[in-house]
Amino acid sequence: MSWQEKLRNVEPYVAGEQPKIKDLIKLNTNENPYHPGSLVKQAIKDFDEGVLPLYPNPDADGLKSKIASYYELENDQVFLGNGSDEVLALTFLTCFNGEEPILFPDITYSFYPVYCDLYKINFKTIPLNDQFKMNIDDYKQKNSGIIFPNPNAPTGEMIGVDAIEEILKFNQESIVVVDEAYIDFGGTSCVELLKKYDQLLIIQTFSKFRSLAGIRLGYALGNKDIIAKLYDVKNSFNSYPIDSLAQVIGCASFDDTDYIKENANKVIKTREYTVKALKELGFEMTDSYTNFIFVTHPNHDANILFTSLKEKGILVRYFNKPRINQHLRITIGTQEQMEKMVEIIKELLKKD
Ligand SMILES: Cc1ncc(COP(=O)(O)O)c(C=O)c1O
Repeated sequence: MSWQEKLRNVEPYVAGEQPKIKDLIKLNTNENPYHPGSLVKQAIKDFDEGVLPLYPNPDADGLKSKIASYYELENDQVFLGNGSDEVLALTFLTCFNGEEPILFPDITYSFYPVYCDLYKINFKTIPLNDQFKMNIDDYKQKNSGIIFPNPNAPTGEMIGVDAIEEILKFNQESIVVVDEAYIDFGGTSCVELLKKYDQLLIIQTFSKFRSLAGIRLGYALGNKDIIAKLYDVKNSFNSYPIDSLAQVIGCASFDDTDYIKENANKVIKTREYTVKALKELGFEMTDSYTNFIFVTHPNHDANILFTSLKEKGILVRYFNKPRINQHLRITIGTQEQMEKMVEIIKELLKKD
C-alpha cells in the first residue's frame, strides 16, 4: 500500500466565504453585526499577558460557573469547547455509538453528515415537510441518537419545547442533542427539560447571540454523566482547548448579557423589517426565529440573484443542494445594511 493510499480521504464541511473585500455587506455566515460589548473590551485591555507562558486553567472553572449559574445548573453540567463546532464534533464521537442509524433532518446544518463520515457513524436523514417543518412522529423510530438544531438552520423554523419533550419521551434510550446555536433570537430554550430527561444534551455557542464568533467558544449543557464522558473524550484529544484569553472574554460576555439582549432585540426588529420588505417584493420565506431568513422568489432564480448581489457588494449564502437550490439564506445585519440590501434587490428585480 502506498503512502498516498494510507491517507484518510474525507469530504470536509465548507464554511461560508470570509472574503476581504472593502465595504462588502457580509450576510453569509450568520455573524452578529453588533459589538460584543464594553465589558469584553475592558477584559481584553485588562488581560495580563504574564499568564501566557502557563497553560490555561484546564477546567475553565470561572467560565463554567458563569454559564452554570445563568442556566441554573451545576458546574458539572457544563462542557466547554473551542466553538460549538468542536463541541458537536466531540458529541458525535462520544454519544453516537450504537448500531442503528442516528437521525437528523434532511435539510439542516451541513456539518452533521461530515462528522458521520469522519467517524463512520450510520445516519438516516428525515425529510422536513414541504413547508420545511419537522414532523415529530418521524422521530419515533429505531435509532442510536437524534440531533437537530432548534431553530433549524438554514430554514430558521423552530419546534416548541413540548415537541422536544415528545421526542425525548419516545426515545428514552437515545441521546437527543438539541443544537441551540440560534435560540436567543426569539426562541425558547429547552433547558428546563434537563430536569426531567437525563438523555438530553443542549449545545450552545458564543458566536451568534454574543457576537464572539472570532473567539471560538461553545458549550454543552446536560446531565453530569454525559458531560463527564464528553470531558473524557476531549481529554483524549486536547486537554487545553479554551485558552486563557477566551476564558476571560467568555466571563465578561456573561456579565454583559443585558446589553447583548438589546442587540438581539435590534436584530429581531430588523428581521421583521426585512421580512416585510422582501415579502412586498414577492419573496416567499419560512418563519424565522433566528438571525437569518431563508427566502425564495417564484420568478427569479436564486443562484442568479446570489451572483448579482455579490457583484453589488452583498454576500448572502446559496446552497446548491436538492430541495433548497432556489433559496437564499440571508443573515440579518444592521438596519442600515438591510435597507441597502432591499434597495439593491428592488433594482435587480426590475432589471430581470
Ligand atoms: C446550527 C449551527 N450549529 C453550530 C454552529 C457552529 O457555530 P460555532 O462553531 O461558531 O460555535 C453553526 C454555525 O453557523 C450553526 O449554524
